[in-house]
Amino acid sequence: MTKITVLGASGQIAQLAEKLFLKDNNNELVLFLRHPQKLNQSELDKRREKIIVGDASKLAELLPAIQGADIVYANLAGSNIEDQAKTVVKAMDEAGVKRLIWISSLGVYDEVPGKFGEWNKNILGSYLTTYRAAADQVTTSNLDYTIIRPAWLTNKDEVDYEMTKGANTPFKGTEVSRLSVASYVNDLVENPSKDIQANVGLNKPNTDGDKPAWY
Ligand SMILES: NC(=O)c1ccc[n+]([C@@H]2O[C@H](COP(=O)([O-])OP(=O)(O)OC[C@H]3O[C@@H](n4cnc5c(N)ncnc54)[C@H](OP(=O)(O)O)[C@@H]3O)[C@@H](O)[C@H]2O)c1
Repeated sequence: MTKITVLGASGQIAQLAEKLFLKDNNNELVLFLRHPQKLNQSELDKRREKIIVGDASKLAELLPAIQGADIVYANLAGSNIEDQAKTVVKAMDEAGVKRLIWISSLGVYDEVPGKFGEWNKNILGSYLTTYRAAADQVTTSNLDYTIIRPAWLTNKDEVDYEMTKGANTPFKGTEVSRLSVASYVNDLVENPSKDIQANVGLNKPNTDGDKPAWY
C-alpha cells in the first residue's frame, strides 16, 4: 500500500489527481482539508479515502494527516502560503516523511521571459513574492521535494504538457490544463524517485504568446 496525503484535497487540481491515484488499488488517500462539504461525499471510496479536517498552517491539525504517509502532495493556496509551507516542512520533519510534491506557480523565480513575463508580473503582483517565499521554505528543507510551477490553468479535458526544468530555465508557453498537472503529479506518485529536488515548469506546447489566449 502507498499512503498519499493530499493537502488542500478539495482543490481543483487535487480532485482530478485523487481520481487518478484511486485507479491504482494499492493507493490509500488521506484527504486533508478545511471544508469537507466541498467534496462530493457520495463519490468517496470509504475503504481507501480518509478525511482529516484541518488548516495547513496549524501544526497540531496537520501532523495527524502526515504521520504514516509515504508521499505528501500539497495543493494549497492563499496569502499565508508561506506559513503553510513552513508548517508542512515542520510536520514532515517531525513525522519522518520525506517525499513532497508542492504546487507553486509560474513566475516565482522571475523566469518567465519577454512580454508575457512582464504581463504576468503586473497581473500577479505580490502573489508571486508570497508564493516564492513558500517555495523557498520547501527548497531549503531536507525533504525530497518536487516543485511544480504550472502555467495559467485551464479546465480543458486534455493531458498535453511539456516541462522546463530548473528555476533559472526560461519558462515556455502561457497555459496548461489542470488535468495535465494532475497527470504529472500522478506520474510522480507512481514513480516516487523521479524528479527529486527538481523545480519543474509545466506548460502546454505551442502556447507562447504575450498573454494567455483567453485574455
Ligand atoms: N489559476 C492559475 O492560473 C494558476 C496558475 C499557476 C498556479 N496556480 C496555483 O496552483 C495551485 C492549485 O490550483 P487549484 O486550481 O487546484 O487551486 P484551488 O482550487 O484554489 O485549491 C487550493 C486549495 O487550497 C486549500 N487551502 C487554502 N488554504 C488552506 C489551509 N490553510 N489549509 C488547508 N487547505 C487550504 C483551499 O481550500 P479551501 O476550500 O478551504 O479554501 C483549496 O481547496 C494554487 O495555489 C494556485 O494559486 C494557479
